[in-house]
Amino acid sequence: MPNMQKMIISQDTPSFKIDKNIYGHFSEHLGRCIYEGMFVGANSEIPNINGMRTDVVNALKAIKIPVLRWPGGCFADEYHWADGIGPKEKRKKMINTHWGGVVEDNSFGTHEFLELCRQIECEPYICGNVGSGTVREMQEWVEYITFDGLSPMSQLRQENGQKDPWKIKYWGVGNENWGCGGNMSAEYYANEYKRYATYIRNFSGNMIHKIACGPSDADYNWTEVLMREVRYMMWGLSLHHYTLPTGNWGAKGSATDFDENSYFHTLKSTMKMDELITRHSTVMDKYDPGKAIALAVDEWGIWTDCEPGTNPGFLYQQNSLRDALLAAVNFDIFNKHADRVKMANIAQTANVLQSVVLTDKEKMILTPTYHAFKLYTAHHDSIYLPVYFKSPDYCFENERIPAVSCTASKSSSGEINITITNIDSENEYEFEIEIRGAASINSVSSEILTADKINSVNTFEKLDTVTTQTYDGFTVKDGVFTVKLAPKSLVLIKLCDKAAK
Ligand code: AHR
Repeated sequence: MPNMQKMIISQDTPSFKIDKNIYGHFSEHLGRCIYEGMFVGANSEIPNINGMRTDVVNALKAIKIPVLRWPGGCFADEYHWADGIGPKEKRKKMINTHWGGVVEDNSFGTHEFLELCRQIECEPYICGNVGSGTVREMQEWVEYITFDGLSPMSQLRQENGQKDPWKIKYWGVGNENWGCGGNMSAEYYANEYKRYATYIRNFSGNMIHKIACGPSDADYNWTEVLMREVRYMMWGLSLHHYTLPTGNWGAKGSATDFDENSYFHTLKSTMKMDELITRHSTVMDKYDPGKAIALAVDEWGIWTDCEPGTNPGFLYQQNSLRDALLAAVNFDIFNKHADRVKMANIAQTANVLQSVVLTDKEKMILTPTYHAFKLYTAHHDSIYLPVYFKSPDYCFENERIPAVSCTASKSSSGEINITITNIDSENEYEFEIEIRGAASINSVSSEILTADKINSVNTFEKLDTVTTQTYDGFTVKDGVFTVKLAPKSLVLIKLCDKAAK
């Protein structure tokens, strides 16, 4: 008999929007993320449109990817955009020193990235080079992409086949400049930021939202310095935080071969995201109490040891049910802080770290994390509804963490969507849910994401071991709504408040 718990969802409390960009993505020139994962070239036998593989583009459209960050990551601070334009055979090659030392032929550049975003129907987010680039280089990149009049850069763009300028909204001023992006101090970067940001111009009606390189993990001093020095010049500040199963960058832990001890501690560790956002937001609140500046968690996800037998510089890892539940826990944290967190970008879209798709030549897997993203599309740009409940504990040996995590939101059409995750590997829970402020609740539908094992995966041979199913573990009776939460599962419930329509 499951334990009955109570949950209250309030429609009466003033709230904020869950920006759909929280469900954003990050794709770097790293391993097989761009090349093969998304871009195969127009001459490939893999079905493609203008070089972008059709299966992947369609899969990404289905989860409504709102924004895509590119070209890095660490790669961004050694990327020189002018090498990636013009006739492909003439493009300068470079060594990708961060990721496997492979030769990058620059066949995927600015035009290709913006074509990819056009096909996916997402907002492009370009991260410029501060570490090894110049102010002029960044200024000219913006001019090349966005200037509508006659200028050296707009002429060059037209010679390369793009008559009209593109619009670009999000622009990162360097990546991890405290580390791979130049090993700078916060004060030094703040000064560099001012120089670079000054010359990022708004041409031809395009309005750029500048994102400053933010802290790693718990570096609150970095946030303090950036907010103190340059807050008036930024739309947002980034934050990077990865979950490592062992907490150790040396041996991070396997993506598939893990026991409950590792599962428990990985999920416990991922909950640190809540503390990080809370504390960075507190620093930001000091300078920006009105929360005008966004926190953009533009790299996050689980980082495991790479798949045995693959190039260690390519960061290819499998993806299990655990990772889908971990994604859901992080989504709930972002949503709860959506008055400050206006964007998040999982690392990375394809074939690298916590991917939503894995490819092997012409084959493609939708990972468990993909399915979590799909369920959470229900919350895109909806109004966050505060949820009050006491989570049961998930106990392992003598430790305990909250078993249940949840987001509720209301869409513009009045639909109430609730995603509830039970990370407990063994225990089922049952919740009685009261929706305050609703006149007449009807259940519309429900889906569940679960599998037999915490480390169940989808493979190229068996694509759907971990996938969503229609779910009937809920009842609406005499005005009381109850839902059963199976162990290690994520449930989406769609409700409709008849009176709200
Ligand atoms: O996502 C992989 C790497 O992690 C990125 O290139 C870098 O920004 C971060 O350290």
